[in-house]
Amino acid sequence: KKLLLIDVDCGTDDAQAIMMAIAAPHVEILGITCVGGNTPLDNVCKNVLRVLRVCNRSDIPVFRGASKPVLGEAIHASYFHGVDGLGDVPDPDAPDLEQIQKEHAADALNRIVSEHPGQISLVATGPLTNLALAVRMDPNFPQKLKSLYIMGGNMESRGNTTACGEFNFLADPEGAYIVLNEFTCLMYIATWEHTCRHKLSWEWYDQWVNRNTKKADFIKKIYAHSLQYSRYNEKEIKALVGGPGFVSCDSYAMAAAIDETTVTDFVECAVTVELSGKFARGMMVLDLIDDLKKKSKARVMTGCDMGKFVILMESSVQ
Ligand code: BDR
Ligand code: CA
Repeated sequence: KKLLLIDVDCGTDDAQAIMMAIAAPHVEILGITCVGGNTPLDNVCKNVLRVLRVCNRSDIPVFRGASKPVLGEAIHASYFHGVDGLGDVPDPDAPDLEQIQKEHAADALNRIVSEHPGQISLVATGPLTNLALAVRMDPNFPQKLKSLYIMGGNMESRGNTTACGEFNFLADPEGAYIVLNEFTCLMYIATWEHTCRHKLSWEWYDQWVNRNTKKADFIKKIYAHSLQYSRYNEKEIKALVGGPGFVSCDSYAMAAAIDETTVTDFVECAVTVELSGKFARGMMVLDLIDDLKKKSKARVMTGCDMGKFVILMESSVQ
């Protein structure tokens, strides 16, 4: 089996990505670590527990990590994901935070990769704070990973939260800097532009959520709030994602982790993050001319096998 650890700031697309991993028969999820991001950390923890309950997988251990970035204050994305991070749909069966493991996320990441050195793929779909803490606690953490799949950053300076800032990297630029500069394992990055360029049609979306399964009903409910923003607000849609279509950002990183052949093309280069720019704090920088003389390179995803991607999306709501 393919061993996975997942680090999330569980908003709607993180939830979707977790469901995609749960549905993959050859994948074993060893744990899910939570980081503040789309919504404050307590909500993130509750949302993960809720997703696991919907999927009958409450056996997967969930760990609480950082509530704030390495520097500065947390930012959230309630305008899109709802105040609770999952579209503000009442949950009559709200999970109890007591179900969260006592071990800190950064400790859990280090312990679990030490138990399976070289075998674990880590998928990170939120701000990279927990990963940065893990490498500060054990500098050998990245070496013990098999591979890392990140949703975050941008490749052409296009932001979604500020002019040049994609949410996950902007929410913790120092955390992202530490990971991009210190993680030497195989690294794939699904940038904001990549996800926008591979969006799905709203016709596809409608049949996807209307298939009368428990999981599809859940997805339909939690996404309803964000549709006001992503489907029915023409001005925003054009400016942000470049035209109509459904974008589930975190699912592209998850799909790559589950099946690397979903990635049909990538740019391989050193990457880093702008920390001090007046306009560009949090922007990902691609070093295409080897200016930084960095040994380790990342694979910045540019091509996606949409046929395979759609199969993974569909399996997650069966
Ligand atoms: C990223 O930010 C969050 O809002 C999403 O969950 C995704 O991880 C997209 O920029
Ligand atoms: Ca996310």
